[in-house]
Amino acid sequence: MTDVSTTQGGLSESAYAELRRIPTRYPEPRSGLLPMLHLVQSEQGRVTPEGIEACADILGITAAEVSGVATFYTMYKRRPVGVYHVGVCTNTLCAVMGGDAIFERLKEHLDVGNDETTADGAITLEHVECNAACDYAPVMMVNWEFMDNMTPQSATQLVDDLRDGRQVRSTRGPVIATWREVERVLAGFPDDRVDEGPGAGPASLVGLGIARDRGWSAPSADASGDTGSTADTPTEAAEQADTSRAETETKQQEGHDG
Ligand code: FES
Repeated sequence: MTDVSTTQGGLSESAYAELRRIPTRYPEPRSGLLPMLHLVQSEQGRVTPEGIEACADILGITAAEVSGVATFYTMYKRRPVGVYHVGVCTNTLCAVMGGDAIFERLKEHLDVGNDETTADGAITLEHVECNAACDYAPVMMVNWEFMDNMTPQSATQLVDDLRDGRQVRSTRGPVIATWREVERVLAGFPDDRVDEGPGAGPASLVGLGIARDRGWSAPSADASGDTGSTADTPTEAAEQADTSRAETETKQQEGHDG
């Protein structure tokens, strides 16, 4: 089991080299700060003072500026995270669908409070805000992979499987990697597993299916703000948008020909 109480003696030379590479991807080097902090977490299990200094030094900004970012976003952790970060959505919809009950059960089962790590370093439990997956409420996340339609029973089975080292898959397909492995992906170093599982589950696509069946489409991008639409129904609006788009394309074509 990974010992999360240490940071393995600081950042390695190869980690520094990768930290220096990240800002070169962006027109403004400091835009690389967010993925750099993820890489620090991948290397050290949290955002360490050393990691903050390294980011500041590479980007030519102050440690206070880096620290301000690291303390603003909840995905950056100042305390060591376990092998698996287990989030339970307790926002309104998930809460009433059972998220609160799941969170209470897991706190008791794991003998930890919010944002605390089990004694064996395996699980960090945290209640999280809406994951934009309300159609699968109550939802949990393990290292940012979705676990849909959970119950207190399936949640306790999930954390037991993780602690016992059994392979666990997201309910959407992907095998759950360790928190540090996932942090490396978030830093922009792919693990070539991006195609595991669907991009969106059936419940999330119901509205799209209805729109297709009824011939609805989104308004034209040209029609932002005042569309000037006289449509009474979505179908009429879609037809008007299609007509508008066709007219625009005809004018553009005439401009080219002329
Ligand atoms: S309220 Fe839980 S995913 Fe939206």
